[in-house]
Amino acid sequence: MLENGKLWYDTNGGVLHAHGGHILLDKDGYYYWYGEDRRAGVYVSCYRSKDLQNWEFRGHVLTVDSPTQPCRMRTKLALSRDVDDAEYEKYSTIGVNAVIEHRGKKIGKINVERPKVLYCEKTGKYVMWAHYENGKDYSDAAALIATCDTPDGEFVYHGAFNPFGHMSRDCTLFKDEDGTAYFISASRDNLDLHIYRLTPDYMNVAKLVGTPFQAELREAPAVYKKDGKYYMLSSWCTGWAPNQGKWAVADSMDGDWSLLEDFGDETTFDSQPAFVLQKDGRDIYVGDRWGGNGEKFFTSTYIVLEIRYKDGKPYIEFDEKAAW
Ligand code: DGJ
Repeated sequence: MLENGKLWYDTNGGVLHAHGGHILLDKDGYYYWYGEDRRAGVYVSCYRSKDLQNWEFRGHVLTVDSPTQPCRMRTKLALSRDVDDAEYEKYSTIGVNAVIEHRGKKIGKINVERPKVLYCEKTGKYVMWAHYENGKDYSDAAALIATCDTPDGEFVYHGAFNPFGHMSRDCTLFKDEDGTAYFISASRDNLDLHIYRLTPDYMNVAKLVGTPFQAELREAPAVYKKDGKYYMLSSWCTGWAPNQGKWAVADSMDGDWSLLEDFGDETTFDSQPAFVLQKDGRDIYVGDRWGGNGEKFFTSTYIVLEIRYKDGKPYIEFDEKAAW
């Protein structure tokens, strides 16, 4: 039984590194969990499970070594940055912001956060979108795209860009029942959320269809659909510290969103939304309990709680047991 807020381990005994992540139920019947893995040289890891309790490590699916293939002009195509001797001396560690000697070069990592993966029926590709930063600060505010032919193979990195020139930080993907996909990300220095409808191959933004919660500083968006309505969970913007989660609802992804209402307690039970998993008619909230910045990242855990409804309003209550 997985306990909320405790470190979880994969079936090999390794700590499960899948933060800010996303679960995809594949046609092979496995749940694939993708998320941030900040170990040296790694960006995104993938685990799979049939029962959501026992997680098999499947691989580091995006790393400093991933193959690259541009898919549009003016993308940032580097998966690492060169560092000089001074920076190397200062930061060289095997930890989170590791600056490492790799293939005879001194390199620093870029920063990849909140990776999400959808399967595109049209192209037969697994498409990843994530938040891309230069590895030093949060000024790039870009969206990264990578693809793979299998759910857990080595993803090909296609670069990072600013959708229609906009800033793009905390993000999520949502796939509607008809296959239309949306990318939702924090823009304007986190002031607004942007909702983009994606092109049918999920490789680009097609149209900016909404800018909800203007000047409300929402982060960590997670979208799901229930009974024909679209629900969005999000947090406020307080770095790695948790805050009061909120929810909102809309009749369509490009429609008007309701006012934000409280979700969970004043710290969302010490968590920030990662995603909502829908299983057997249940909506399941998955949140990150961040250990914090730097090496503290490795003490980050997860909480998994069933979303219930009262008078049509979603809510969660804390339970020690993971709800899946
Ligand atoms: C909150 C975001 O939700 C995280 O993904 C991360 O970007 C931290 N801020 C960084 O402070």
